[in-house]
Amino acid sequence: LEEGKFTVCSVGAGYVGSLTSIILAAQQPNLKVIVCDVNQDLINSWSDQRYPFYEPELDRQFDIAVNQNKNIKFTTKITDAIQESDAIFICVNTPPKKDLISGLGKESDMKYFDLACQTIASMGDPKKHRILIEKSTFQIQLNILGTVPVGTHKRIHGILSQKLSNPDDCYTIVSMPEFLAEGVAIQNLLFPDRIVVGTPTDKNGMETFEVIKGIYSNFQTKFIHVKTASSELGKLFANAMLAQRISSINSMSQLCETTGASVQDLSKIVGSDKRIGQYFLNASPAFGGSCFEKDLQSLVYILESLGQTDQAMYWSQVLHMNQFQKRRLLDMIISEFPNPSETVLTIFGFAFKKNTSDTRMTPIAYFVNGLIEKGFFVRIHDPQANERGFYLEMEMQGFDIAERFNFQFCGSDYNKAVANSNAIIIGTEWDEYITTNYRNIRDQMNQSRALFFDLRSIVDEEPLKYLGFEKVFKLGN
Ligand code: UDX
Ligand code: UDX
Ligand code: ADP
Repeated sequence: LEEGKFTVCSVGAGYVGSLTSIILAAQQPNLKVIVCDVNQDLINSWSDQRYPFYEPELDRQFDIAVNQNKNIKFTTKITDAIQESDAIFICVNTPPKKDLISGLGKESDMKYFDLACQTIASMGDPKKHRILIEKSTFQIQLNILGTVPVGTHKRIHGILSQKLSNPDDCYTIVSMPEFLAEGVAIQNLLFPDRIVVGTPTDKNGMETFEVIKGIYSNFQTKFIHVKTASSELGKLFANAMLAQRISSINSMSQLCETTGASVQDLSKIVGSDKRIGQYFLNASPAFGGSCFEKDLQSLVYILESLGQTDQAMYWSQVLHMNQFQKRRLLDMIISEFPNPSETVLTIFGFAFKKNTSDTRMTPIAYFVNGLIEKGFFVRIHDPQANERGFYLEMEMQGFDIAERFNFQFCGSDYNKAVANSNAIIIGTEWDEYITTNYRNIRDQMNQSRALFFDLRSIVDEEPLKYLGFEKVFKLGN
């Protein structure tokens, strides 16, 4: 890449758009990078060098891009950004449809995506051919006949065609799914396992792939160049497979508890088989996050709409197990306390996993709501998740706690969170929940009765029993 000759822009400055752009700008000094979003607050935050969310190791890459390479800018002027760009990444949110969150086989809400595509269409110019890269996962649309679901690239093409007589002269549509996981996003972006590029199979597709390799020339990784549909479906399947592993290990946790086996031992035993692999075998209260449930629902929906019912049933069981695990653990906690109205419970962790402030689709929301509904007084602690995110997420997941008074969000304040509490419930596997001073904590808790529920299996039971916890439950043990 010649210096300053190639410009990429990301439409959307959320997790995917901003992090992808910052890493590209930091690693490819010759590239010009523009990040744009409709959300003025978000853009202000990035421009003022205030991070809108917590992500480890972000500071260093941000500093390289912004202060050293000086090749990135943040703006709300989306059309200007598109105008300047040679390649555009579409990184807007495609949340699950709000009213259908817990249902099976539902499609995603594509309105933000469609709007972004309409803006991009309005900037189409046959004199400046651009690469249009979809980062969002495979979404479907029933076509005019109402039967055949089509991929995101066809959806984009359809939207471009409404405004442009020759969309292919203006844009080449490419699928480049993002595989970053929050909390380890910077490492994932710097050293991706692979970069998947889905293009048309013609000569134009081959040339576009070469340009994309140029954009990523400083990255040591393997490229997988496939046709667009494979790329889109591959991302959906990757998330479905990861979620399936978690449901599989979670499905063994109760059996371990009742037979005296340990679920961590099971993970070690199966994980050392190269064919299975050691990662993603941690039992949990359920998987959360903005991708797994949504993508599984999309997959089930696609299969159902194609009449592939048995396959749809197979994947819907992964979602079923995820719901089941939450209900089982909630019921178990409730059964330990005969007088909810006289019981204070402390939940450690509200983020959907450690090392992120993100709470989207966190499984802990279900526990918070269930315990509040039963009449317990619930206090929530999290080192990074904030109160605004807490309320927003409870609402997003359909839990109406606005009229309730029997809970308190305590942020990172341990003293507030544990005072006179009857139980600690570890919901998120933050490292500090392993190392925190439980002697101190036990001293501040209810003196007559305190229990411990470790829903992430991260602490040792014996020292806690020694401190006077009446019961120590460790998931899958
Ligand atoms: C299996 C286990 O692999 C082994 O660890 C255990 O000790 C005994 O059971 P085996 O049944 O001998 O071994 O063969 P395996 O290679 O696992 O294949 C089992 C079946 O799965 C075969 O019918 C094979 O064709 C099929 N298979 C395997 C697939 O359909 N796809 C694959 O990717 C792999
Ligand atoms: C996921 C995919 O990993 C990533 O490749 C994709 O791009 C986006 O979706 P993310 O949701 O950010 O990433 O985090 P991930 O680490 O996958 O965790 C998802 C959920 O699964 C979390 O709630 C986590 O706690 C849970 N999980 C993960 C387990 O319960 N057990 C595990 O062993 C791993
Ligand atoms: P993800 O985790 O997939 O990155 P986020 O919700 O964090 O999703 O980010 C998506 C971003 O896309 C949001 O900041 C949202 O404001 C932005 N966005 C949505 N629609 C548009 C649009 N038409 N143009 C620009 N940005 C958009």
